[in-house]
Amino acid sequence: MDRFIIHKSSLHGTVEISGSKNACLPIMAATLLTDEECKIHNIPHLMDIITMVKILEVLGKQVRYERDTLIIKNRSKLNKVSFAAPYRLVRTMRASFCCLGPLLARKKKARVALPGGCVIGLRPVDLHIKGLKALGADLAVEKGYWVGRVKHLRGSHIYLGGPFGSSVLATANVLMAATLAEGQTLIEYAACEPEIEFLGKFLKKMGADIEGEGTPLIKIKGVKSLGGAECKVIPDRIEAGTFMAASLAAKSTIEIKGIDTSHLTPVVEVVKMMGGELKMQKGSCRLKSPSTLNPVNITTFPYPGFPTDLQAQFTACLCFAKGTSLITEKVYPDRFMHVAELNRMGASIQRSGPYAIIEGEEMLYGAEVMASDLRASAALVIAGLAAEGKTEVTRVYHIDRGYERIEEKLKKLGAKIKRESQ
Ligand code: EPZ
Repeated sequence: MDRFIIHKSSLHGTVEISGSKNACLPIMAATLLTDEECKIHNIPHLMDIITMVKILEVLGKQVRYERDTLIIKNRSKLNKVSFAAPYRLVRTMRASFCCLGPLLARKKKARVALPGGCVIGLRPVDLHIKGLKALGADLAVEKGYWVGRVKHLRGSHIYLGGPFGSSVLATANVLMAATLAEGQTLIEYAACEPEIEFLGKFLKKMGADIEGEGTPLIKIKGVKSLGGAECKVIPDRIEAGTFMAASLAAKSTIEIKGIDTSHLTPVVEVVKMMGGELKMQKGSCRLKSPSTLNPVNITTFPYPGFPTDLQAQFTACLCFAKGTSLITEKVYPDRFMHVAELNRMGASIQRSGPYAIIEGEEMLYGAEVMASDLRASAALVIAGLAAEGKTEVTRVYHIDRGYERIEEKLKKLGAKIKRESQ
């Protein structure tokens, strides 16, 4: 397993943001809705994308890479084409669960492994199932798989709000299935994330009849079939926010290019409250960090609230602020695996349920720390860039799932970081 060796660094220069993992994955699943060729440009080269490619190949697709483009079409010789997404792949990446809706819509049957839980908390799929059942699918759990069958999907009025608000991938699953359902579907309390808006636009390019993508109310009129389409994946707002947190922690000035600033409003507000000076331009921003960070209170919410996927990174950053900060995690109340590791570096964070109280410290100290999930790993890298001494982050395969060559991008910014393979 690889590890990162990190020393205190100051950052400078420009970082280029990759295409969004969380935008790309549902689009790849959407290609199951058509037999025609689809092209997806600006894909990030990440483990999760590779896993989704493998799942699509099991499900009868031929996937070809052309640099930053995926070309996806049906395999000519469709021998035994499966409609089952296997556990060995699904357990490594929950997002594969969003193949369920397209498989039901296109193949009228589906068998997708129940995704396991993960360190950020229980990952239920009840809203996915509620929505797909409302469209007429018969779904039941058989030996660790959700197995679904349907004669005809029929449009329905579906309320998709759950105990933690909207659900991104449940919205994606139901939206994709509804495009081929008979009649009209209304999804109420739909997720508004930019990644859902982007999925809706891609489905419309395929011929779907959709209104309101990116808002809490999405109206879909079912069509007979969908064709192939092409798209360029939107920038990764979570990667952009991660580099903002890194720059603030390292008290540095950097330029971040290849972003969609309209997706970053909640993050920009927090960066400014922490004392960051941001110059926003079309497609890029320049962040000048203060010598002393202000403490802030952050509560995570579904979009357009502050993203839960940036909570760990900003928690790490606030360990260096002058004062006390409060983090309230409203999306995944258990998403605090990074806290124990940060405290081993000398941070003073007290966690109670969905709350974490951070007493800012003058300094943190390098240590050997263990990555536990994608965003917690990024938090440990950020802490290592600002801490005195050497930090070793182990199990960096977690980080490779969601960040494209993060150590290369950080090195280009002047960071003292190297990858050691074991
Ligand atoms: C997506 O996961 C993202 N993953 C996650 O990013 C992100 O943290 C999450 O949305 C929230 O923004 C991808 O897009 C691939 P949810 P998803 O359904 O769709 C509860 C990362 O780091 N819920 O929006 O699985 C759930 O427990 C990953 O890139 C139900 O109760 O998340 C959570 O509390 C981690 N029932 C809340 O809703 C359900 O059926 C939001 O989850 C589904 C979810």
